[in-house]
Amino acid sequence: MINIQEVTKRYEMGSNIVMALDGITLDIHEGEFVAIVGPSGSGKSTLMNIIGCLDIVTSGTYVLNQIPIQEYDQDELADIRNQQIGFIFQQFNLLPSFTAIENVMMPMTYAKVAKKQRELKAAQLLQTVGLGDRMDHKPTELSGGQQQRVSIARALANDPAIILADEPTGALDSKTGKEVLTLLKTLNSNGKTVIVITHDQEVARFANRVITLKDGRVASDLAKEEVYV
Ligand SMILES: Nc1ncnc2c1ncn2[C@@H]1O[C@H](COP(=O)(O)OP(=O)(O)O)[C@@H](O)[C@H]1O
Ligand SMILES: [Mg+2]
Repeated sequence: MINIQEVTKRYEMGSNIVMALDGITLDIHEGEFVAIVGPSGSGKSTLMNIIGCLDIVTSGTYVLNQIPIQEYDQDELADIRNQQIGFIFQQFNLLPSFTAIENVMMPMTYAKVAKKQRELKAAQLLQTVGLGDRMDHKPTELSGGQQQRVSIARALANDPAIILADEPTGALDSKTGKEVLTLLKTLNSNGKTVIVITHDQEVARFANRVITLKDGRVASDLAKEEVYV
């Protein structure tokens, strides 16, 4: 599903060159629950941006669901993102002036889904994440955990194969964070591929595979049983 070969990402800041990714090779298969961990500056966000088609590689190849990503331009990548990937962010990134249901409808609007169908699907998704009674609330009228559940519903709107979450529990207390992780675990059990980027080992425990980055390289890539013996 995800095939990354010898990928580098280089940033040039004047005369200063940073190799944010320095030769990453990895495959992620359908149905996996993967945690990408590593210290600050190790390249986690850069790798997430590549996997999420938000940024392109400096060298190497990235193939997502048979699509050779480096051959597409920014507009085409926006469509690929909209169809293939559901994003979850640390700060939820909900639109503040829109209600929960309107936020969940947004990716379907981009995908040109008819309004009635958008409303129906968004309401269903909000019910699935336990927010059937909060659909007309704006983000400021919801707790952090509830906002993150709205963003999970939004991530599911176009039935993406992959859920990509960058520090999804970073802004939540540990109990609420566990609830969000349990929800991601359920989605994974129902067939979604889930990739969580985190610096928190507790979060990584929910995954079946833990990839550790260091200095823009894969330092280790282990099945859960190998990590926690
Ligand atoms: N847009 C950018 N311009 C220049 N350097 C960057 C940029 N984004 C990230 N970097 C650098 O690339 C390295 C990896 O960063 P990042 O992927 O954000 O790491 P992490 O998410 O693991 O903390 C760091 O040294 C960071 O300073
Ligand atoms: Mg980061």
